[in-house]
Amino acid sequence: MLLVGDGDFSLAVAMVRLAGGDGSRLVATSYDYAEDVRDKYKQAESNIRALEKAGASVLHGVDGRRLHRKKELRGELFDRIVFFFPHSGQQRVHVNRLLLSEFFSSAARVLAPGGEVHVALKTFAPYIHWNAPGAAAAAGLDLVVQHPLASLQLREHGYIHRTTDPNAVKFRSVDSMLYVFAKSAAAEAAAASSKKRRAATSTSTEIAAILDAAGGTLFPVALSAEARPIKRRKLLP
Ligand SMILES: C[S@@+](CC[C@H](N)C(=O)[O-])C[C@H]1O[C@@H](n2cnc3c(N)ncnc32)[C@H](O)[C@@H]1O
Repeated sequence: MLLVGDGDFSLAVAMVRLAGGDGSRLVATSYDYAEDVRDKYKQAESNIRALEKAGASVLHGVDGRRLHRKKELRGELFDRIVFFFPHSGQQRVHVNRLLLSEFFSSAARVLAPGGEVHVALKTFAPYIHWNAPGAAAAAGLDLVVQHPLASLQLREHGYIHRTTDPNAVKFRSVDSMLYVFAKSAAAEAAAASSKKRRAATSTSTEIAAILDAAGGTLFPVALSAEARPIKRRKLLP
């Protein structure tokens, strides 16, 4: 599983906990450079340590629009690519639409056959105008299913939603949706297996969708760890 655009890595920690503690199949990434992550979020350091202890790979300076160009990902393909609450840091619809479009295009290039891209987004304006399903479709990814994201389980396991600017106004992640996309040819099969997963699991639907139905494990990925510094950006709320 490739986790894109984590904030303080609490989402990655929660996913590893929910998967039983083994993070060896997870690559958790932040867009920010390592130094910025630690400066912005005081929990980041301990979350990163916990992830490394669990065997996860942590990478910084990973641009979701250029996943296919990231040399540390070594051309690997991923069964799950997950981006919770993508946000450029600018409150401009067209900028965030472009981020989504470029993310989907890049994700489609590093998605394993039969794999899924999972994106969580708020369900109110202006986020709803970003048109994630439209952006995904343009990249050849069909919407398979969408789940209201209660994220209670994730929160119980330590996930705290982080804003791009740590001082920005907080929001309730319950007013959110998890969208699941798959490559057009695989979309139908993924939709069928998603229905089975929902029937078979006792975990919340969004976690069932993200984790492997076979055993609640994270999907296999390559392990690598090297930071690529990115320029500090001035962030708007
Ligand atoms: C609203 S925050 C959500 C953080 C985290 N995913 C969460 O759920 O708490 C948006 C995140 O998108 C990241 N981001 C912005 N532009 C990005 C890009 N081009 N590639 C990857 N991540 C990006 C920001 O650094 C920030 O961590």
